[in-house]
Amino acid sequence: MTEQDLPGRNNLGNVRQSRIFPAEGELWTLTEGPEGSHLINVSGTREGSGVDTSSVLWAVFDVSVRRKIEAQLNEEEANQQDVPAHEAGLTSSVGGFWPPERASFERIKGIYTPGIVRSSDSLNHITGEIEKAREIFDGEVSRVSLRAVVDVDFLKVAARSESFRPLIEVVIPLNGTQAAFENTALVYFGLNHSTRQPIQKELDRYTDNLREASSHVVSTPQEIRKRAEEKGYDIKILSKQAVTEECVDQVALLYERFGWTRNEVSAILHNTNNIIGIAVKDGAIVSAGIAEMARIPIGGNSLRIIEITEAATLDEHAKNGLYTAVSSGLLEELSKRSRIDGVLDGKADLIYGECNGNALGVLKTAHIQGRRFAKDAGSELGFSNSGVLPQHVPIAGLPIETPYNDLFPAFMTREDLYRIYSK
Ligand SMILES: CC(C)(COP(=O)(O)OP(=O)(O)OC[C@H]1O[C@@H](n2cnc3c(N)ncnc32)[C@H](O)[C@@H]1OP(=O)(O)O)[C@@H](O)C(=O)NCCC(=O)NCCS
Repeated sequence: MTEQDLPGRNNLGNVRQSRIFPAEGELWTLTEGPEGSHLINVSGTREGSGVDTSSVLWAVFDVSVRRKIEAQLNEEEANQQDVPAHEAGLTSSVGGFWPPERASFERIKGIYTPGIVRSSDSLNHITGEIEKAREIFDGEVSRVSLRAVVDVDFLKVAARSESFRPLIEVVIPLNGTQAAFENTALVYFGLNHSTRQPIQKELDRYTDNLREASSHVVSTPQEIRKRAEEKGYDIKILSKQAVTEECVDQVALLYERFGWTRNEVSAILHNTNNIIGIAVKDGAIVSAGIAEMARIPIGGNSLRIIEITEAATLDEHAKNGLYTAVSSGLLEELSKRSRIDGVLDGKADLIYGECNGNALGVLKTAHIQGRRFAKDAGSELGFSNSGVLPQHVPIAGLPIETPYNDLFPAFMTREDLYRIYSK
């Protein structure tokens, strides 16, 4: 592909000299395009003008320019009110996966992209970054959280080391995604400062919650939808074209609990990396959830992961199965898009949510719709103490004694998605 072939090239042709940051009210996400180009996804409504600036721009620039843009985006993010459980709206699907970087809530985060970890050399890169983070543990950094795709047999051998094993927090097997990732797992490695530790009695309560959630009957997508529809709710995907000012107002009301401003909600709804699921009653959006798509290069392959996040139901409509129906609607949509390579130009590999152990409704939803807890999957592989992200982020909800919440990832592979959401 030549520069002339890049759609919208003229928009950012002079990216080296100017405008390497979003205008007010715009949200930028960066993804890699073909042959050294970068796709800049611009979404949002320009402040004051009411003009929808959503568009996709291509630009060719080198790594240093990309770094500059990312630094700019991170600075913007730091200036915004951060949101519980949300992985940094501006950077979550942006590069900067590796080397790790500072992230919200006093964390260093990263995803190891050079390839599948199956040798001590590549594992040393990861443990080296954890050591580096440990050395700067202070008031500004108190947790390091790194993800990598690791060969399962290699991980089992490496985990015999007593010093390494505790760094393994979560193991999500990737069998059932794509052939390149057979017998590998997405592994969360982590370490917390001594002042940022979970407490046993809270972990015990969450384990009870997980047990209770897992005892719930699993429902089919049809049953889940029918329950909500019979109560007069319409379960839908909110298309980008259908995002009116009224929609933004309604979702902003729902997402107030996360601390999002109206402008941020507008940017979220327009972001083409997000699929928005909603429940509507009497013309009003009363429940919403997001499927946030990201493509991660792992060596020569791409792993497409989709996080189900920002679950919210208005209190007066709670416990009617709405969040279950909304997130199940998102899975249905992902299944459809995946079959036509419509998930960031490819197929969905892994769908997951980082569930708050203190939110029984969220844990139940994950189980009811056929997601598996990484705690169970990790145990089956021999990592019996894995499955929890300790003191990961703060989430508003039932009171707890610790400053952050302990999260329990629950996931579904492409194979599961196609089996459960076959139509
Ligand atoms: C969490 C939340 C989205 C759940 O929404 P919802 O529409 O009530 O969820 P559902 O009705 O689909 O819940 C699924 C199941 O959990 C149950 N449930 C929901 N909330 C529950 C609670 N607080 N305690 C116990 N069970 C609960 C539901 O009754 C349902 O079970 P059922 O099928 O046996 O009836 C909603 O409570 C909310 O907005 N919370 C605040 C924001 C938040 O914490 N988001 C999650 C961030 S991780």
